[in-house]
Amino acid sequence: MITGSTDGIGKLAATKLAQSGLQIILHGRNPEKLSTVLEEIKSTTGNQNITGYVADFSNLDDVKSMVAKIKEGNASIDVLVNNAGIFKTENTIAENGIDIRMVVNYLAPVVLTNGLLPLLQKGNSPRIINLSSAAQATVSATSFAKNSKLSHNDAYAQSKLAILLWSFYLAKQQPNIVTIALNPGSLLNTKMVKEAYGKFWSSADKGADIIIDLATNSAYDDSSGKYFDNDNGGFGRAHVDAYDTRVIEYLMSLTTEIIS
Ligand SMILES: NC(=O)c1ccc[n+]([C@@H]2O[C@H](COP(=O)([O-])OP(=O)(O)OC[C@H]3O[C@@H](n4cnc5c(N)ncnc54)[C@H](OP(=O)(O)O)[C@@H]3O)[C@@H](O)[C@H]2O)c1
Repeated sequence: MITGSTDGIGKLAATKLAQSGLQIILHGRNPEKLSTVLEEIKSTTGNQNITGYVADFSNLDDVKSMVAKIKEGNASIDVLVNNAGIFKTENTIAENGIDIRMVVNYLAPVVLTNGLLPLLQKGNSPRIINLSSAAQATVSATSFAKNSKLSHNDAYAQSKLAILLWSFYLAKQQPNIVTIALNPGSLLNTKMVKEAYGKFWSSADKGADIIIDLATNSAYDDSSGKYFDNDNGGFGRAHVDAYDTRVIEYLMSLTTEIIS
C-alpha cells in the first residue's frame, strides 16, 4: 500500500511496482483523481490487481474510516509506504485546528499505521517505509497547538522530523516489522516541489526507485530503525533529536494525547 499515490513519487512507485505484477493498494484524497489514476495504472501496466481507498489525511476521522474499509477488503499487508505529504498550501489549518503539515505528514500516518498493524503483522516479511526529508527541525509542542502560526518551511521540517522520530520508535515497538525512514532525495521533479520552488534538482524516478528498493529488496531485512538519506545514496545520520530517547518519548506521549 502506498499513500498519496495519485501524484508525484507515490504514483510513480505504484506504477512501477504494478508493472512487476504485485497487488497494489492506492490511496488518494480526491475520489475522481484516485479513480483516474487507478484506471491509468491498470491500463498502462495490464495489472488488474489494484484497488484504491480515499481519505483526506487532514481529517483523522477520515483516516480511521479508511482503515476500517481496508480491513474489510484485505486480510494482510506486506508493505506500507507512508508517502502522502503536503508542504505549501493556502489552507494551513486542518479539521482539528492543528497545522495541516503536522496532521497530514505526521499524525495521519501514525493513525493509519496503528490501525493497519494487525494486517501488517500478518504480512509476508512486513515493512513500513516512512517518507521524511532532508528538511528536519526540532518538534515543538506548541506546533500541535490549535491555530499555531508556523511558516511553511518550519511546519514541514517539524512534521518530517516527527515522522522520523516515530519511525525509530516504531522499529523498537514492532521488532517483526522492518521500519525505515527515508529522505527520497531533495527537490525531486514533483507537483509539491514545482509549486513550492518552481524548479527541481533531480527526476521523480530517483525518489520512486528508492521507495521500491527499500520496500522490496531483501538486502534491507536487517535495516529496521534506520534512516536512508537518498541525497547521499545510503543510510545516514538524521537530526540529533533522533538519537535522544527523551525527545522521542516526549513526542510519543504528546502524540498519544492528541490522537486519542
Ligand atoms: N519531491 C521531493 O523532492 C521530496 C523531498 C523529500 C521528501 N518528499 C516527500 O515525499 C512524499 C511525496 O512527495 P511528492 O513530491 O511526490 O509530492 P506530490 O507530488 O505533491 O504528491 C503528494 C501526494 O500526497 C497526497 N496528499 C496531499 N495532501 C493530502 C491530504 N490532505 N490527504 C491525503 N493525501 C494527500 C497528494 O494527493 P493529490 O494528488 O490529491 O494532490 C499526492 O498523492 C511527501 O511525503 C514529501 O514530503 C518529497
